[in-house]
Amino acid sequence: MRHLCASAVVVVLVLGMLGPPLSVGQMAATAPPPGAASKVVPSVGVGSTQRFFYMGAESCGASTCHGSAAPRNAPRTGIRQTEYAQWQTNDKHAKAYEVLLKDRSLVMAKNLRMAEPPSKSNRCVVCHTLYAPKELQSASYKVEDGVSCEACHGQAEGWLGTHIARGYAASASIGMYDTRNLVKRAEKCVSCHVGDEIRNVDHELIAAGHPDLVFDFETYTAMLPPHWRTAPSDGVGGRAWTVGQVVALRESLKRLARRTHQRAATAWPEFAEFECFACHHDVNNIESSYYRRGEENRLQEGAPWDVSWRQQRGYPGVAGIPPWNPARYYILRQVVQAIAPESRATLDQELSTVSTLMATVGASEPAQIAAAANRAVQVTDALLAKVAGLQVNPELASTVLRNVTSDSVSIGGAGPRVAEQAVMAVETFVPVARKSGKQLAQEPVVTSALQKLSQVRVKPEEYNREQFEQFATQMRAIHSFLTQ
Ligand code: HEC
Ligand code: HEC
Ligand code: HEC
Ligand code: HEC
Repeated sequence: MRHLCASAVVVVLVLGMLGPPLSVGQMAATAPPPGAASKVVPSVGVGSTQRFFYMGAESCGASTCHGSAAPRNAPRTGIRQTEYAQWQTNDKHAKAYEVLLKDRSLVMAKNLRMAEPPSKSNRCVVCHTLYAPKELQSASYKVEDGVSCEACHGQAEGWLGTHIARGYAASASIGMYDTRNLVKRAEKCVSCHVGDEIRNVDHELIAAGHPDLVFDFETYTAMLPPHWRTAPSDGVGGRAWTVGQVVALRESLKRLARRTHQRAATAWPEFAEFECFACHHDVNNIESSYYRRGEENRLQEGAPWDVSWRQQRGYPGVAGIPPWNPARYYILRQVVQAIAPESRATLDQELSTVSTLMATVGASEPAQIAAAANRAVQVTDALLAKVAGLQVNPELASTVLRNVTSDSVSIGGAGPRVAEQAVMAVETFVPVARKSGKQLAQEPVVTSALQKLSQVRVKPEEYNREQFEQFATQMRAIHSFLTQ
């Protein structure tokens, strides 16, 4: 079997290398996005600048390789060999290209006044396919495969024929991406689910019809049909959550810096950097007296006035200026408090600068915002080194839960995106936590609170005082259970 896989691969390799770099036509017409030219080709391997071809999903999907219908559990490595079938039938990544042909994408293209269809535009295919510059596409590369194996596992040319014999570490040195490393894995997901130098979902795309990018590493990993054997090293139960939060925070700060920079001339401030629902919500009590003529409509002493939850909460800065979206930090800082308290103050300080500058965005120089964001990036880098090897035991999980739930009023008041992150964090740490030796996940008080909390996520644009109170009540219920 090993022999078969390897020889199939040799044929592909030879074809790929002898022929002229084959164009499958799909990407030929598109110019690289601005600023992409120097970034498209990552240098792979330690100290190597060699460029490897992208081989396409079929090169992995032979029935004797990763396309087996039933698990085989390869003798030495234990690999099930059903990965291709799993991905193709159950994983949304396999359909990511098809999405670009659907009406929703066509409406977006119209709104964005795109010159070419989404399926041919670098504006979309960078995230919705195994994006490869034309000169690195082998004969078997197919853009239609969507987000296929090499989008996560790295360009396969170098290691395809030998990875069974050589093993993981040796393959990683010739282009196999180290998905076993949790930090690297999170970085890979975030490159599309938050964005990077060449991948960008901004407010213009969202207004045109793209979903907002909400990403939580642990939750999203759990949503994928796993084509891998789940091991404790996967970090389920808190470690992946923490690593993913730090990586996503760092990358979203870099994105903020990039956006101030690249788009200063055209579209700064970039609305997608702010809390969406500070702008997108219903408003009351705004009719002028023009519409409410007559004495009976004047404000009466003691008459009810439908104050909104924001007006009741008050504003951290100038009323009516949308705040910077703090969702990627608000909950994380409670976890940082528990695991690296010495980092908390520095991070708080840097991010409060970002937030203050964003709150006076009209008066702040975009360059100042970028500088503050970049300083915060350095702090997150240091923090990442601390959390990479984190082990979440039941005590730590309980401390995290106590911290997060104790902050419920402030979290709820920061808006639905922050509340949503809190719910995902609670869902992550509850299964690990224990109280008096008993699993928290078995406690009816906790399970019922969790169930009600999940409803807070349903419609963020309708987040209102009632939901805010409902959120705070359920968080308090968990908190008092933990502390009583
Ligand atoms: C930064 C990466 C990125 C870029 C660029 C991007 N997308 Fe997406 N797109 C995503 C991700 C990630 C999702 C899934 C979001 C989720 O479910 O959390 C998605 C989801 C979608 C969906 C909804 C799919 C569904 O199953 O409901 C459509 C439609 C879509 N994208 C179209 C486009 C089009 C058209 C373009 C180009 C104009 C584009 N995308 C550019 C990353 C991107
Ligand atoms: C969205 C990203 C992504 C895509 C696409 C993807 N994988 Fe994976 N793959 C992972 C992650 C994450 C793991 C788990 C970490 C690890 O073992 O490296 C993994 C693990 C594996 C493993 C190791 C399984 C084990 O039990 O140890 C194999 C083999 C594999 N993938 C093959 C494939 C093949 C073949 C394809 C294409 C059909 C594919 N992957 C597509 C992310 C991806
Ligand atoms: C090359 C870009 C890319 C990479 C890398 C990537 N994704 Fe995705 N992901 C997408 C796109 C695009 C979609 C939307 C596909 C669709 O809706 O058809 C998506 C969809 C998903 C979905 C489905 C969401 C839903 O609405 O059901 C999950 C879950 C997910 N990704 C998790 C991950 C995880 C975990 C990783 C890292 C191991 C990862 N992704 C890496 C681009 C990517
Ligand atoms: C500073 C205020 C502001 C912020 C913050 C903001 N938007 Fe918008 N958004 C607007 C305006 C103005 C429009 C265009 C007018 C309209 O159609 O509502 C718009 C349009 C939209 C539309 C299309 C409108 C429609 O009819 O469906 C969507 C969807 C959208 N925004 C989503 C978001 C998301 C998601 C975020 C956060 C990532 C966000 N917005 C942040 C002001 C904002």
